[in-house]
Amino acid sequence: ARQDLAGQDLAGRRIVISAGGTREPLDPVRYLGNRSSGRQGVALAEAAAARGASVILVAAHLEVPPPAGVDLRPVSTALELQAAVEAAAATADVVIMAAAVADYRPAERRADKIKKDEAGDTFRLDLVKNPDILAGLARAVPRPAVIVGFAAETEADPAARLELGRQKVARKGCDYLVLNRVGWSQGFATESNDIVVLDRRGDIVNEASGTKLSVANCILDVIVQAGTPDHH
Ligand code: CTP
Ligand code: CA
Repeated sequence: ARQDLAGQDLAGRRIVISAGGTREPLDPVRYLGNRSSGRQGVALAEAAAARGASVILVAAHLEVPPPAGVDLRPVSTALELQAAVEAAAATADVVIMAAAVADYRPAERRADKIKKDEAGDTFRLDLVKNPDILAGLARAVPRPAVIVGFAAETEADPAARLELGRQKVARKGCDYLVLNRVGWSQGFATESNDIVVLDRRGDIVNEASGTKLSVANCILDVIVQAGTPDHH
C-alpha cells in the first residue's frame, strides 16, 4: 500500500480535460465533424488519475473507451463542450483543452432531413463561428491556475510550425501550448505522437515522442513543475 502512494505528484489537484472531436449538426442525420479520436485526451485523463489527480473528462465522441476512475461528462457540439468545460473549470486548478473543437457550426439546424432536390449541382452552407473556449477560459477572472491548449498544425517545416505555435499561444493567452504535428497518417487515430510544449513566451519547456501515454506524462510533468496554486 505504501508503494501505491509513490508517484502521486498530482494528488489533490483538480484537472479538467476535454477530449475527442465535436460534431455540429446540419439536420437530424448529418453533422460536420473532424478526425480526432480522443486518444491523446483519454491518455491524459488516465495518466492524471494514475498520478493522483481528481479528473473531469469532457468527452466528445471518443473512439476509445474512457479510463476508469474519472468523472465523465459526454458532449457533442462545441457549445455543449463549452458549457461543460466552463462549469467544471469553476472549481478546477488545471484545464487541458485536448478536444478538437469545430471552428464553425451550421447557421441553422434543420428539423427535417435536407433533400437533394432542394439545390442544384452545388450546395451552399452558411456557417457561423463558434466561441473560442480556450481563449475565453484564459481571459476569465478568476480563472484556473494552469490552462493548456493543443495545436495540431499540418505545416511540414519544423521552424515554421514552431512559429505558428508561438503566435497561437500568444493569441490564446493560455499558459502552455502542446504543439503537435498532424497529417493524413500522423497525429489522428494513431497510437503514438510527437509534440513540444511551449510556455507563454513561446519557449520550449518539454518535448516527447512516443506513445500517447508517454506524451501525456510529459505534459503532466510541465503542470507539476508549474507548481501547486496557493489558493483558488
Ligand atoms: N479551441 C477552443 N475553441 C475553439 C477552437 C479551438 O477552445 N472554438 C482550442 C482547442 O481545443 C485547442 C486550441 O484551442 O486546445 C487550439 O485549437 P486550434 O484549432 O489549433 O486553434 P484555432 O484558434 O482554432 O486556430 P486554427 O484552427 O485557425 O489554426
Ligand atoms: Ca481550429
